[in-house]
Amino acid sequence: MNRKIISLFLVMVLVLVSLVGCASAPAAEVEEDTTTVEEVPEGETVPEAIDTSDMQLTIYAGMFEEHAAKAVQQFEEETGIKTEFVRMSSGETLARIRAEKDNMTASVWYGGPADAFIAAKAEGLVVPYISPESLDIDAQFKDPEGYWTGIYVGYLGFVGNQEWLDANGLEMPQSWADLLKPEFKNEFVTAHPGSSGTAYTMLATVLQLMGEEEGYAYMQKLNEQVRQYTKSGTAPGRMIGMGEAGIGVTFLHDAIKYKEEGYKDIVISAPSEGTGYEIGAVAILANGPDQEAAKMFVDWALTKEAQELGQTVGSYQFHTKPGAENPEQAKPIEGTKLIDYDFVWAGNNRTANVEKFLEMTKTTIPTE
Ligand code: F6P
Repeated sequence: MNRKIISLFLVMVLVLVSLVGCASAPAAEVEEDTTTVEEVPEGETVPEAIDTSDMQLTIYAGMFEEHAAKAVQQFEEETGIKTEFVRMSSGETLARIRAEKDNMTASVWYGGPADAFIAAKAEGLVVPYISPESLDIDAQFKDPEGYWTGIYVGYLGFVGNQEWLDANGLEMPQSWADLLKPEFKNEFVTAHPGSSGTAYTMLATVLQLMGEEEGYAYMQKLNEQVRQYTKSGTAPGRMIGMGEAGIGVTFLHDAIKYKEEGYKDIVISAPSEGTGYEIGAVAILANGPDQEAAKMFVDWALTKEAQELGQTVGSYQFHTKPGAENPEQAKPIEGTKLIDYDFVWAGNNRTANVEKFLEMTKTTIPTE
C-alpha cells in the first residue's frame, strides 16, 4: 500500500513538472521568434542605409507655390536631400523640358494635369518608375507602364463674382452654352491652353463633349467673350475675386481656396452637360541629374502623409492614395457631373489641339 502511495506521488510530481514545462514554452518561442526576425535569410543582403548627404534635387512643380514649398520642405526634413523647386504652368514645363531634353536641369515633374505628362511620355521626356507606393493606387490614376502616377484629382468648373452678377442682374452660368451669353462678353477670363493645364483641360473637355468640329466652333465663339487670357490656370479665380472680371473657368478647388482666403464674393458652379477633370501627376524626367533622389521623391509624394499636406496650405484637390483624407473644403463639389475624360487622347493630341487653337483664335501664348 505504502509503495502504491509513493508511486502515485511520483506520477503526480512528473505530471506537474511537465505542465510547468509546457506553460513556459511560448515565452521561449517568442524569444526565438524575435531573433529570427532580425536574421537575414540566406542569400539576401542587408539593405544599406542610403547616404543622402551629397544628394540634391531640382523639381518642376505644377501646383500652387505654397503647396510645392511645403512639400519640398517636408521631403528635405525627412530625407536630408537638398531640394529646390521652380513653379511653372503645365505648358511652360512641357516647353522647358523639350528645350532641355539633352541637358535636363531638373529630375522630377511634380503636379499639373496628366495630359501634359502623356505628351511628354510620347516624346521620351519622362522615364518609367513603378514606385512601391503606387501599387495600391487605382489603375485609372496612373500610367500602366509607370511613366507618371496620379497624386491628386481636380474638377473643372466656373467661377463668378456674386457682387458683379447681382449688380448686373445676372445668374451664375450653369452650362457651357451659358458662357456664350452676350452679357458675359468681355467679362470672361480664362488661362490660355498653350500655357496652362487648366485651360488645356477646358479645351480637351469641350472637344470631347461636343466632338471636334462643333467643339472648335464653340471655342471660336468663346474666344470672342474673352477679356484676358492668363498664363496660369489659377489667375482667373483671383482676378474674379478682386472684381477685375465677372466670370471665368478654373479648377473648382482653386476657387474654393481664394474664397477661403477672403475673396468672399466668389461663387462657383459646374456645367450641367458635364465637366472635365485633371489627374495631377508626378514623374521622373529623362536625363535628369539626380535619378536616385528623384525615385525617393516619387515614393514620398505617393504616401498618404504627403498627399494630405496640400490641404494644410489651401490645396483642396481630392487624393489618389487609398486612406488619404480628402479635404473638408472639397466636400460641396464631390457630386460634380464629370465626363468620361480620355486622358490618353487629350495627351497624345495636345500639341495638335493647341496649334489649332492658336491658329483659329489668332492668340499668342501669354508669358506672364
Ligand atoms: O494647384 C493648383 C492647380 O490648379 C492644380 O490643381 C493644377 O494641377 C495646376 O494648378 C494647373 O496649373 P496651370 O493651369 O497653371 O497649368
